[in-house]
Amino acid sequence: MKPYKPPAIPSSEITPQALFLARRKFMQTAGGAALAAVWPPALWAMDNLGELGKSKYSVTDELTPRQAVTEYNNFYEFGTSKDQPAINAGSLQTRPWTITVEGEVKKSKVFDIEELLKMAALEERIYRLRCVEAWSMVVPWLGYSLAELLKRVEPTGNAKFVEFVSLHDPAQMPGQKAAVLDWPYREGLRMDEAMHPLTLLTFGLYGEVLPKQNGAPVRIVMPWKYGFKSAKSIVKIRLVEQQPLTSWMKAGPGEYGFYANVNPEVDHPRWSQAKERRIGEFLKRKTLMFNGYADEVAALYAGMDLQRNF
Ligand code: MTE
Repeated sequence: MKPYKPPAIPSSEITPQALFLARRKFMQTAGGAALAAVWPPALWAMDNLGELGKSKYSVTDELTPRQAVTEYNNFYEFGTSKDQPAINAGSLQTRPWTITVEGEVKKSKVFDIEELLKMAALEERIYRLRCVEAWSMVVPWLGYSLAELLKRVEPTGNAKFVEFVSLHDPAQMPGQKAAVLDWPYREGLRMDEAMHPLTLLTFGLYGEVLPKQNGAPVRIVMPWKYGFKSAKSIVKIRLVEQQPLTSWMKAGPGEYGFYANVNPEVDHPRWSQAKERRIGEFLKRKTLMFNGYADEVAALYAGMDLQRNF
């Protein structure tokens, strides 16, 4: 991945973010619940939307402006520079859409996106997202724990890992005409990581359906791992016995490990991971172990050598 270049955020951005915050505050009141039924866009209107802003997993860090979240992206299926996904992702067709869940499960199933949206209460989760390129964002995502979906297919005792497969269709995803990665984009987690409540099956951000450049209509968000683990526009989830080979491991095995836990003590071979630039901020901040989620997830890695298992 290319080195960090901060985005220009014009002052016009301040308005939508302030509006979102005011709306969120209002939605937490009784009047807000009634309004939620009629307020566009779609996700605000969903009757399974949980109480916004109350998730025990939300951090209180200042939000990254919506414009930066939606115009400064990594989504190589739409180009390798940060501005290209927002410009090119219009060709992505997000309906109809299904996710096939298969492999080491008792009940493999093809889930329609509309069914997925209603399967569990959508919750707003304000998460930090730390990119391997040493920048970070704070985003109000909308989704529910991936565990809600996985338990429905009844994993067998052989299910040790989970593989995520993104859409492969060069007609919709022009970046796939270039062999910058081995398409389709593949990512993976250990089963216990995938079942951890912080692992979010994500449908929206900033109170709206996911913009295409952010991985519409459904993606994963892993707040304690480098951003590349958070696969976008996924169409398949496979439960498997062996550790899957991911796109980034194929592209650079010495640079991108399977675990990819945010770790300030383990540098990328070409740059330090000790600090990060929070988008919109001037001074760099220290990167926190597991991106600040150590209390929640450190136990998953007890006894593991995190230098070797990077
Ligand atoms: N998923 C797919 N399918 N293709 C990608 O190129 N990029 C990853 C991840 N998921 C990527 C992907 C990287 S490197 C990051 S940092 C995050 O998406 C960025 O998510 P965002 O654009 O919503 O901030």
